[in-house]
Amino acid sequence: MTLRFPEGFLWGASTAAYQIEGAAAEDGRRPSIWDDFVHAGHARHGETGDVAADHYHRSASDLDLMADLGMTAYRFSIAWTRTMDDDGAVNQKGLDFYRRLADGLRERGIEPFATLYHFDLPRRLGERGGWLDRDTAYRLADHADLVSGALGDRIGHWMTVNELFVETFLGYATGDSPPGRESTGEAVAASHHMLLGHGLAAQAVRANGAGEVGIVTSFSPVRPATADPRDAEAARRIDGLVNRFYLDALFRGEYPADLMAHYADLRPGFTAVRDGDLDVISAPLDFLGLNYYFSRTVAASGRDLGPDWVETPLSTRVEAELGARDVVRAGETLTAIGWPVDPGGLTELLLRLRADYGDVPIYITENGLPLGDYVTPDGRVHDPERIEFLRRHLTALHAAVAAGVDVRGYLTWSLLDNFEWGSGYAPRFGLTFVDYGTQRRIPKDSFHWYREVIARNGL
Ligand code: FCB
Repeated sequence: MTLRFPEGFLWGASTAAYQIEGAAAEDGRRPSIWDDFVHAGHARHGETGDVAADHYHRSASDLDLMADLGMTAYRFSIAWTRTMDDDGAVNQKGLDFYRRLADGLRERGIEPFATLYHFDLPRRLGERGGWLDRDTAYRLADHADLVSGALGDRIGHWMTVNELFVETFLGYATGDSPPGRESTGEAVAASHHMLLGHGLAAQAVRANGAGEVGIVTSFSPVRPATADPRDAEAARRIDGLVNRFYLDALFRGEYPADLMAHYADLRPGFTAVRDGDLDVISAPLDFLGLNYYFSRTVAASGRDLGPDWVETPLSTRVEAELGARDVVRAGETLTAIGWPVDPGGLTELLLRLRADYGDVPIYITENGLPLGDYVTPDGRVHDPERIEFLRRHLTALHAAVAAGVDVRGYLTWSLLDNFEWGSGYAPRFGLTFVDYGTQRRIPKDSFHWYREVIARNGL
């Protein structure tokens, strides 16, 4: 069977600055809260992004790799730590790196998609309270203004922030990311400030006439484990936590009432919201960037589901506070970082977004599989599981497109193996293997497979 995507559909891959660039102290780059967090030993085996995939020095050959793949879009992030110095003044050398990158993309017929902020908050802002400080939202708008003013003539697609739930809840509620705090009330306030930062950054990009503006979110369909109404209620609350909190704010200009009631006593929590904020946050978007990795299956806390179900690593204290836990059927295969695999969830999610929030153009901005890839004696990297993962997800994506959902492109995570935050270098997500000892790039079997998909505009 042939599955063809609409004409003009964009195909590509995504990366983020701290995960690939290295050159942590070069050309005026300032430290971010992630540098400090991993240098304090919080990533696996004390690993850091100091060198990562050394992309800062190898961008020319990496651009050739992208051209070889036939990509028509590339999503990367523009490090705030490179564009500004400690006083917030422009760092020309940092800006020039992204100017050259954008030019290199254009020369190769690849559309640049720039994320303005992907987890790497400058240390100077972290020291002033990070996302707990409302002022950080305004400082993000400064960075957005600077970058979109300088590069708006060559970058036509802008994404303000990446994955708000992941950053704020892992950073402020579970402590797994910087700043490593453990307060749900702080995570709620941080999420609100980051949404406000999104709205203000979008205004800045628009004021510069720099092109289309969107945001990148990671959503998951949430299903109750059983027909028991207690599981349905628990699933509804987790849907509020990971999906509706952001969707309702962005598309309806309000926070979900059930979640607000649940978090009513948390401080600072929703007290961070000021009059007018939600108007800024809910200004219309040109597109939504959707990262999809997994669905969630949820059971009410404290209910014995018997031996058929096991709890997953997605269960955290935050879910427990909402009377819920993430489960999977016993024996189900999870990815190397404990995520369920559910291609059908992507179709379901896209249909639901349209049904509940209307017809916004969507780009899939991340989707991929971590594996423990290695080079075999034939000098190649065989990753049939990744090919199967991508094939199933593209089939699911096609089903949503066939049902009329306005999806305009697919960018897989990731172009290169890279520094997977707290998990270090162990999970490899790339279409291209990186030998970190030599920095040699080896396109995996999935790279060659994906090239065919792009060339045919389908499967
Ligand atoms: C997402 C992040 C991205 C990468 C993938 C695997 O949460 O946006 O940086 O780490 O997960």
